[in-house]
Amino acid sequence: MRRVRYHEYGGPEVLRVEQAEVPVPGEGQVLVRAEAIGVNFVDTKYRQGPEAGAIFQRPLPGTLTGDVVGTVEAVGQGVEGLAVGERVAALVAEDAYADYVLAAAQWIVKVDEGVDHGSATMLPMGAPVALRVLRTGGLTPGESVLVHSAAGGIGHFALQIARLLGAGTVVATAGSDAKLEFAREHGADIAVNYTEQNWTGAVRAAVPDGVDVLLDAVGGDVLRRSFEVLAPYGRAVTYGAASGDLISVPVTSVFALKSLAGFNLTAWRTARPEQARAEMDELAGYVAEGKLTAAVHATVPLAEAAEAHRLLDDRAALGRVLLVP
Ligand SMILES: NC(=O)c1ccc[n+]([C@@H]2O[C@H](COP(=O)([O-])OP(=O)(O)OC[C@H]3O[C@@H](n4cnc5c(N)ncnc54)[C@H](OP(=O)(O)O)[C@@H]3O)[C@@H](O)[C@H]2O)c1
Repeated sequence: MRRVRYHEYGGPEVLRVEQAEVPVPGEGQVLVRAEAIGVNFVDTKYRQGPEAGAIFQRPLPGTLTGDVVGTVEAVGQGVEGLAVGERVAALVAEDAYADYVLAAAQWIVKVDEGVDHGSATMLPMGAPVALRVLRTGGLTPGESVLVHSAAGGIGHFALQIARLLGAGTVVATAGSDAKLEFAREHGADIAVNYTEQNWTGAVRAAVPDGVDVLLDAVGGDVLRRSFEVLAPYGRAVTYGAASGDLISVPVTSVFALKSLAGFNLTAWRTARPEQARAEMDELAGYVAEGKLTAAVHATVPLAEAAEAHRLLDDRAALGRVLLVP
């Protein structure tokens, strides 16, 4: 079978297609034949190596994560409730860019035949993150929400889920006109370019009382300035640092009755496994009912994985980028 790895850090061109044996599932694992692989932003950072910053380190040879939808080919010892031939989606932690992948059975999602590739690849990770960051922010119906980097994979799901949860005004930020238009098409009432100096003024003009829940995975200056647009009792949730900038937020940012919470999927699943599992089923239901759909920006052959990374490096992707074997 083919798999993609990198043996040096650098640009997308370091991704190499190589031949490997089809892996054998160990205890608690499932072998999946890939139908499509959702590309995650974090791997573009790991691929860059030390220059990407301290939180994005992976040793060489570099393997890639991915959200794989496909068919169960074999099950390892101790796996219950999953059978050969079933269509599933899984967050694959290593060697996800491959014809066959190994996945931990615990967090696999069963996927109806009618569900499209792109939406299916959001079920193991992107959708649970989008839902849980909104709930970590304590969103209640009618409250306003701001989603940063809203045209990204997780961002455009957060917009749609905010709507499903009954949010009031939904504000999106992103870095280009095309992304702002895309965010409006996916549920934002207002879209603001946060690369412009006065983006906070534009948000304040649209939501004069400030936003109640704010989601950020950019970090740095974007997170620091976010407190200017947060309402009293507003809650900001940080769940990533795409900018690579891990500046601290001064404690004075939250003096005016504001708060900042952090979210990480692994920490959430460890702390509340049953609730995490129930939310995956809730999201699979929204997708099966057509209430939640992924926009696929590009579907790229596995052998051209570098092209998929180039789209993310260039910040060109609207929604999801997929690889297909
Ligand atoms: N906490 C968790 O458990 C968890 C799990 C999965 C993912 N994440 C994080 O969630 C975020 C979204 O993930 P995703 O896979 O859906 O990615 P994505 O949103 O599709 O891509 C990342 C986005 O970040 C924005 N960005 C801002 N500054 C950037 C910079 N300096 N370089 C590149 N992009 C920059 C870009 O949007 P603009 O061009 O509009 O600025 C880009 O579209 C990532 O930060 C990821 O690490 C967290």
